[in-house]
Amino acid sequence: MTAFPKDFVWGASTAAYQIEGAWQADGRGESIWDRFSHTPGRVLNDDNGDIACDHYQRYQEDVALLPALKLRAYRFSIAWPRILPCGTGAVNLRGLDFYDRLVDALLAAGVTPYVTLYHWDLPQALQDGGGWGNRDIVGHFEDYTAVVTRRLGDRVRHWMTINEPWVAAFLGHRTGEHAPGLRDEKLALQVAHHMLLAHGAAVDVVRANGSQSKVGIVLNPSSVETAHGTPEEAEAAEATWQADWAWFLDPLFKGHYPPAIWEKYGALAPEVRPGDLAQISRTTDFLGINYYFRNVIGFEGRMPGLEYTDMGWEVHAPGLERVLLRLKADYRLPPIFITENGAAYVDEFGADGQIHDSRRIHFLQRHLTAVARAIEQGVDVRGYFVWSLLDNFEWAYGYSKRFGIVHVDFATQRRTIKDSGAWYAQSALQNSVAPVA
Ligand code: FCB
Repeated sequence: MTAFPKDFVWGASTAAYQIEGAWQADGRGESIWDRFSHTPGRVLNDDNGDIACDHYQRYQEDVALLPALKLRAYRFSIAWPRILPCGTGAVNLRGLDFYDRLVDALLAAGVTPYVTLYHWDLPQALQDGGGWGNRDIVGHFEDYTAVVTRRLGDRVRHWMTINEPWVAAFLGHRTGEHAPGLRDEKLALQVAHHMLLAHGAAVDVVRANGSQSKVGIVLNPSSVETAHGTPEEAEAAEATWQADWAWFLDPLFKGHYPPAIWEKYGALAPEVRPGDLAQISRTTDFLGINYYFRNVIGFEGRMPGLEYTDMGWEVHAPGLERVLLRLKADYRLPPIFITENGAAYVDEFGADGQIHDSRRIHFLQRHLTAVARAIEQGVDVRGYFVWSLLDNFEWAYGYSKRFGIVHVDFATQRRTIKDSGAWYAQSALQNSVAPVA
């Protein structure tokens, strides 16, 4: 049995737009994901987050799932348009009240809140003014962060600024698969820079509003590997790592962009002003890592003999261990939390009314073992949050992909703990990777 260090944090993650629903309740403004999902053809089956898991109404029931799952930590995000419906200006107190109630319910249940400030639901009004492509966003994000941390900073001690800037910048502005659905490489790189800058600015604000607050960013580095191990593939793999992951990690932890990639971009490189990199590379208290799959150079599609999830993502837990070791080798990092890891599978109820999702259990078992192995090799990982607590709105895939350890029947909103939830609870309880039946 693989054990974890004492005080290892066991949790589950969600994000506001994916679960809350109630998109117009209590003065909430429109977000870019409302606009995007309401535009026909953008999201599979034209699904949207109007109702989602109806968590906004049902948060008490959802909070109660956490102690039932033996989890003492919960990562969720705050919807900026609930707090500032126009992105800036007037504060909507009813929006703040919701998160106030949520935090109190968590604390009363013995669950520590880990709060993400930005998990992709930008107020549409800010998008109309250029969104993340307009440098003014940095000040707006600072103001939003100040409003939230002033209200919750007395009870919330763990803050994440921005979730996966790679996805938000590049899928949102380069490939257009995510909101706001733009396709402009130069813009995407400028957006990424502004996200890093906004992160750095928010770090100072979080600290100013909570003397005990810990703050960090969440990145999603894939292990970049080769299909055949040729020197050409190895070179391409390293270039991909640099362009995708060092592009974010170097500014944050070394104070500069990777020079070779910067040069390669030429005129596409973002506008960077004096002082920006000092702001971006502010010391943080932890780094959040989301991990789902490795990136294999030299092979398109599915490789024969390998295992894939319902997302078409390869199941390859050693990639997680390798990413963690590479991070440790290349950077001087604060402690790490695995802030997301999990798998989508087609789940069906058995005759006994339960969901026997053994593939998800295997996925989690192997990835938790990979984390434990990295810890044994000196990587300072302090906790693990499964993605996700609930089946939810999976962005461009709508409700077609189920990541939850708790099943949600979207017609009735009934929650059912899956076998993976029970297995994960056992692991959390014994602070080790539970055996797999
Ligand atoms: C991550 C996102 C999260 C979820 C998982 C499957 O990129 O942060 O919201 O959709 O993927």
